[in-house]
Amino acid sequence: MTTITNIDDLKRLYRRRVPRMFYDYAESGSWTEQTFHANVTDFSRIRLRQRVAVDLSDRSTSSTMVGQDVAMPVALAPVGMTGMQSADGEIKAARAAAKFGIPFTLSTMSICSIEDVAQKAERGFWFQLYVMRDQTFVESLIGRAQDAGCRALVLTLDLQVLGQRHKDIKNGLSAPPRPTLTVMADLSTKWRWMAGMAKTPRRSFGNIIGHVQGVKDTSSLMDWTASQFDPSLNWDKVKKIRRMWNGPFILKGILDSEDARRAVDCGADALIVSNHGGRQLDGALSSVRMLPAIVDAVGDSIEIHFDSGIRSGQDVLKALALGARGTYIGRAYIYGLGAMGEAGVRASLDVIHKELDTTMALCGRTRVGDLNHDNLIMEPGFTTVTN
Ligand code: GLV
Repeated sequence: MTTITNIDDLKRLYRRRVPRMFYDYAESGSWTEQTFHANVTDFSRIRLRQRVAVDLSDRSTSSTMVGQDVAMPVALAPVGMTGMQSADGEIKAARAAAKFGIPFTLSTMSICSIEDVAQKAERGFWFQLYVMRDQTFVESLIGRAQDAGCRALVLTLDLQVLGQRHKDIKNGLSAPPRPTLTVMADLSTKWRWMAGMAKTPRRSFGNIIGHVQGVKDTSSLMDWTASQFDPSLNWDKVKKIRRMWNGPFILKGILDSEDARRAVDCGADALIVSNHGGRQLDGALSSVRMLPAIVDAVGDSIEIHFDSGIRSGQDVLKALALGARGTYIGRAYIYGLGAMGEAGVRASLDVIHKELDTTMALCGRTRVGDLNHDNLIMEPGFTTVTN
């Protein structure tokens, strides 16, 4: 058994244990994947300033995100089809997050439904909303999230149309997978995954099946998005949704200062600087390069959260030092989930927490709230954006 000491260890195991189609789904960006890669490589161009002889005996990574106490400022990001990475994956991830003391965000495009997660894990998780053409369905999703005790609503704004990911098309991505010869050959080597799936009834989009009239086949995320997502979503509609939700409201997918100002105008409690993990607009700048401009533009009037590219506690620290109050991990916990189920999600959180705590200490800080630009040194030639 491999000793897990970093996120890459989990990724290696994940790759061996999960069907290729779902590995590819997680591990892709859109088109040339330049934004997907830049999200990670730009972090490595930000260096850390070493400080010494600071009393480090009393340290804490705890903080708050939209008023909620968090053991570290890291939430689990909404990820579509998490229950295809491991049977009942959303329930496992929600449990691991609750035990660690951080928020779990359930995607609209999850396999386990809102009600499944509320019943089998903990109430109080966050719900991510995609806006569909069918207004009644959107209202019912919001009502279901409210009834299930979800503490925050995360509205995603950067996926009205789906960024093309070549591998998903070539693989015929669907939930459950269609039994082609290639898929069957792959599944025959993934016995752990198969054993888990054999035991659960949850194998397709749980928030949708049985809740939408007249929709026959929801098994393909790509087809569902193309036919059902609302391409007319605009700021007025965002304001309407804000009024429908009683609780913290978070806007996800902001990568521009002008949009950040609009998010503030909508009465959002937080915005997430995000390019959807490089899965939507290929060619967009990395989230970390855009973060300082957005903090400058609106950082006093709204909580700034951050995602895209975080694979370590050092990345978390860099985002916090650039002005984010909270961060999200997606792939980093999905690797753990696919590798080892709930224990793997826990392992990914332990890895990230240790990296954050140790790095903070070696930078001479004892509180995450004290991190700032002084802790960073930009590599020559690397500049963040001002606009
Ligand atoms: C959205 O849910 C995605 O696949 O990125």
